Amino acid sequence: GQTNLNAKLVLLGDMGTGKSSLVLRFVKGQFLEFQESTIGAAFFSQTVAVENATVKFEIWDTAGQERYHSLAPMYYRGAAAAIIVYDISNSDSFAKAKKWVQELQKQGNTSMVMALAGNKCDLEDKRDVSAEEARLYAEENGLFFMETSARTAVNVNDLFYEIAKKLPKG
Ligand code: GTP
Ligand code: MG
Repeated sequence: GQTNLNAKLVLLGDMGTGKSSLVLRFVKGQFLEFQESTIGAAFFSQTVAVENATVKFEIWDTAGQERYHSLAPMYYRGAAAAIIVYDISNSDSFAKAKKWVQELQKQGNTSMVMALAGNKCDLEDKRDVSAEEARLYAEENGLFFMETSARTAVNVNDLFYEIAKKLPKG
């Protein structure tokens, strides 16, 4: 039969990696060259149809600036899924992504579907993190991995669609 599921999803990652841009691309099909830095967090929702289910994502787009770090647990607690975002042109943002993965692993919701998104893959000429390194890290840590571009839309819908497919439907 048909399952209708509501799923809380949180985006985490360093400032400027493109969390808001990924959400804007997914929810509204838009991209802003000058997307404003998020203050606190922003909420969006979007529904996707997969196989025998529809999944309504309740999306918390968190602020990456360090001063907001302490708010993050409010958004990831009870989340069914998390997308940890880094910028492929910035290896510091990849290191920060690993820190977020550790924090999520420690807080212990083992059923959370976790995805690692290497965003800004349109910036190939500025690449600072190899896809292979990220893929290996993701594999070792049980994360789903994709490189995305909010700018060109590459893999953005696929990312959310693959997460929706991985959510338990029972
Ligand atoms: P905070 O809210 O501060 O945590 O940042 P954020 O992770 O939400 O980043 P945001 O979406 O605000 O994007 C930061 C900048 O990167 C903006 O100027 C975007 O236009 C740009 N940007 C986002 N995604 C991409 C992308 O896929 N490719 C390129 N080239 N630029 C991008
Ligand atoms: Mg933002």
